[in-house]
Amino acid sequence: TWSNVPAGPPDPILGVTEAFKADKDPRKINLGVGAYRDENGKPYILPSVKKAEEIVQSSKPDKEYLPITGLPEFTKNSALLAYGAESDVIKQGTVAITQSISGTGALRIGGAFLARHYPHSKAIYLPAPTWGNHIPLFGDSGLEVRKYRYFNKETVGLDFEGLKADLKAAPEQSIVLLHACAHNPTGIDPTPEQWAEISDIVKEKKLFPFFDMAYQGFASGSTAKDAFAVRHFVSQGHQIALAQSFAKNMGLYGERVGAFSLTTADPAEKARVDSQLKIIIRPMYSNPPLHGARIANAILNNADLYTQWESEVKGMADRIISMREKLYTTLQKDLNTPGEWGHIKSQIGMFSFTGLTSPQTKALAEKAHVYMTADGRISMAGLNGNNIEYFAQSVDAAVRG
Ligand code: LMR
Repeated sequence: TWSNVPAGPPDPILGVTEAFKADKDPRKINLGVGAYRDENGKPYILPSVKKAEEIVQSSKPDKEYLPITGLPEFTKNSALLAYGAESDVIKQGTVAITQSISGTGALRIGGAFLARHYPHSKAIYLPAPTWGNHIPLFGDSGLEVRKYRYFNKETVGLDFEGLKADLKAAPEQSIVLLHACAHNPTGIDPTPEQWAEISDIVKEKKLFPFFDMAYQGFASGSTAKDAFAVRHFVSQGHQIALAQSFAKNMGLYGERVGAFSLTTADPAEKARVDSQLKIIIRPMYSNPPLHGARIANAILNNADLYTQWESEVKGMADRIISMREKLYTTLQKDLNTPGEWGHIKSQIGMFSFTGLTSPQTKALAEKAHVYMTADGRISMAGLNGNNIEYFAQSVDAAVRG
């Protein structure tokens, strides 16, 4: 029956983890998937998450189905975290929102909703480069994927002129995907002034902004600062779509906790949109899992735990920044590795877009047992005091060829 099914390629990101697991060398390092590791290279369960789990457990929770759009307290708090208590859309109750199977699930619900209900266009413009999964995800949702310029290879920075030109050239009312903060894979974000300009272009061209916010708190260490772009757009009167993930900022990866929301014109429109979100989700997976949403809600709902969580997010962000400093110094100053490595320090969030070429990343895996995605992206969180010297030496050797 399946003789015509061709073998597919491994996933560009999760396939790296498979290759890493199969490698038996004790020096091996996995800098592929964006998953935080502590200074000993171990997965990290946030202490606030442990406390939240105790709170959930002590309430002797049942295992009943959640509603189709998830735990209502959780989605309410998730919207508050993203939009801010002062936002008009929160005050007026016009955010249509659903729990989702983490960020990917949120994007997929959004893609399906737009493909079915957005009346003006099927075209979605993604930054080049973008998170690899965005491309099949939106294509499979029924949208037509296009690109806008984002990364300037020469400056290893934002191609702001290219970005503006491409958004201005896009047909009116196209959809545009924006990474809210800690752009994946480049680690390069627009400045607040640049965001304001992007917002003006989006308004002028009547584009529909869809924000992917997978790293709120990871870019600056502050969840409010990292929500700047989302809040600015909303304050400028844009209606937006928003995908949120709690995988990275709460370390809830495998619990699959996220939310998808749309800001709407008024409570009646919100109610209609909410009803259609249910109609999209019910045949997809019926209703979302319980446990992670309860944990996230226990944190978001408790002022003390919330404060503790924010400081733990900052702790993760700060450890990554210290690894950036150390890697930069080792490559640029200690080893004198050919090239300019300042971008390692200036990029933000979980990733660094190193500039290593695909053959160099291949050589690093084969010769040094160091794994990263083929585009030269490294997850900074995979580096620690024990492996960073070995990593820098391996990069140095790969660059010198
Ligand atoms: C990543 O880019 O590594 C993360 O977003 C995890 C994933 O699912 O790809």
